[in-house]
Amino acid sequence: MYSLSLILYPGVAFVLTVIFGFWLSCLGKPYHQVVFNIHKLIALAAVVLVGLQFSNWFKSGEVQPEWILQVVLIAIMMIILFASGALMSLDKLDYKLLRLLHRITPVGLVLLGVWMVGLG
Ligand code: HEM
Repeated sequence: MYSLSLILYPGVAFVLTVIFGFWLSCLGKPYHQVVFNIHKLIALAAVVLVGLQFSNWFKSGEVQPEWILQVVLIAIMMIILFASGALMSLDKLDYKLLRLLHRITPVGLVLLGVWMVGLG
């Protein structure tokens, strides 16, 4: 279990990414380059912040077994988001399927966040 303050920065970056994602989606294709780049960069910042946070936890003492599972799940979901986002922007594979994946995965991240702060 973690305290809410520890996932605050990655959480804020995540919320901003989602806001820019919906904005990008509303603007439609071809994607607005500025909004697209901001969406990507904040997503990248969120990944870096999550990585820093986990490295602090791992350095700070006992490693809980569920941390490993959480790191792996976050990594998988981030890979899905980056891959589906990139493929949508390149018009590769099935757009509707990729968009569905790109919409569902953030819900998984929220559930993971709830688990991490111990509310679930
Ligand atoms: C933490 C990572 C990310 C989260 C949480 C996230 C979330 C979202 C959300 C909620 C949307 C709106 C989806 C909708 O239409 O309902 C969206 C749209 C989009 N995202 Fe992301 N995203 C992330 C990373 C990325 C990355 C890294 C890329 C590019 C490489 C990307 C590319 C896109 C594109 C192209 C759209 C517009 C989809 C459309 O055509 O409607 N996303 N994102």
